[in-house]
Amino acid sequence: MKKAVIVLPTYNEAKNVEELIPKIFQIAATVANWEIHVIIVDSYSPDRTEDAVIKLIKRYPRLHLLRLKERGLGLAYLSGFKTAIEKLQPYLLFEMDADLSHDPKNIPEFLKAIEAGSDFVIGSRYMKGGSIPNDWGVHRKIFSFFGNLIIRLGFMKPKITEWTNGYRAIKVWVIKSTSDQLKNYSGYVFQIAAIDRALKQGARISEIPIKFVDRKHGQSKISFPQYIFDIFLYIFTNSSFVKYVIVGMTGFVIDFGLSFIFIEKLKALVWFSTIISAETAIISNFLLNNSWSFSHKKLEGGLLTYIPQFLKFNLVSAGSLIIQAGGIQLFVNIFGRELWYLYKTIIIIFIIIPYSYILYNKVIWKER
Ligand code: GDD
Ligand code: MN
Repeated sequence: MKKAVIVLPTYNEAKNVEELIPKIFQIAATVANWEIHVIIVDSYSPDRTEDAVIKLIKRYPRLHLLRLKERGLGLAYLSGFKTAIEKLQPYLLFEMDADLSHDPKNIPEFLKAIEAGSDFVIGSRYMKGGSIPNDWGVHRKIFSFFGNLIIRLGFMKPKITEWTNGYRAIKVWVIKSTSDQLKNYSGYVFQIAAIDRALKQGARISEIPIKFVDRKHGQSKISFPQYIFDIFLYIFTNSSFVKYVIVGMTGFVIDFGLSFIFIEKLKALVWFSTIISAETAIISNFLLNNSWSFSHKKLEGGLLTYIPQFLKFNLVSAGSLIIQAGGIQLFVNIFGRELWYLYKTIIIIFIIIPYSYILYNKVIWKER
């Protein structure tokens, strides 16, 4: 029998927990091989959610309560995880909203995905079979959909369709290896950081469809301006892809700057100046990507690993040069040379940037 603990953060959810808890334990009784506990993490809700919980504990011995002085969704989860691990030594943890937006009937599907080998299962509203409430206002629908889309592209992980919804099953080893890095994300952005950090630890992530229903009692505590700001800040400071694009731009500046100095100021030979400036940019790109963009997969083992990887890096760079030259010539042959800079920009954005990023990930900075 493996143990799973469902962590439920609450702030003013007295009415909701009274409905939700019996439903969870009803479902829990139907699953074989899993002993399911629930821990409620309450931030001293003014509506005295804790009183409702204490009453329920008398009926459900596998229900637990943790009281927290601070507010914050991320903080509530980290504290709940920590207490659950110390008190109950589970194998698996669940994240779940306490407002009945997440239907407990999905619990067995999460467990099945875990049994099939996943380390981290996300309940997704945006994959086939999942849904958001019909009666959500247009702005909330748009925000939620585009928010997820921006995050998917920002991390260049289009396969994960859901980054924000907090209905998840996560193996304890993943929590243990990421919780220290998650301490700085005490608000809702915690959800995005948790997926990003788990991926960087090599966790196998999968998704199951869920239908998100609007809460009936109480109201959401989310503050959208704060949330949007936190999301952009997180992507900007943590996405390998964004960092890689920034490194690419520094390479561009180095390449042009050095060419300018060599050709215009030092009156050096043009071909010689081009080789020096391009290669300096390649070396600098390689070092910056290794120590910054892909720091979680940094090459180790000294010169013996560095040199072959650096040669491969040069090959990828040569490849992108050939693609760019061939592509732009093709466009020019078809449409004429007038708009060459437009073709160059299109090729760089849609072919060169993804091409190099994919090859760097597949050939040079491989997933561990
Ligand atoms: N302990 C504690 N402290 N719990 C909190 C706090 C807090 O400061 N703030 C919110 N919660 C609890 C709520 O009581 C609820 O059970 C759950 O966290 C989700 O909060 P809601 O206020 O219902 O937010 P939502 O429905 O807008 O949240 C949606 O978006 C989030 C961020 O993307 C859901 O999809 C969440 O699952 C998701 O994390
Ligand atoms: Mn909610």
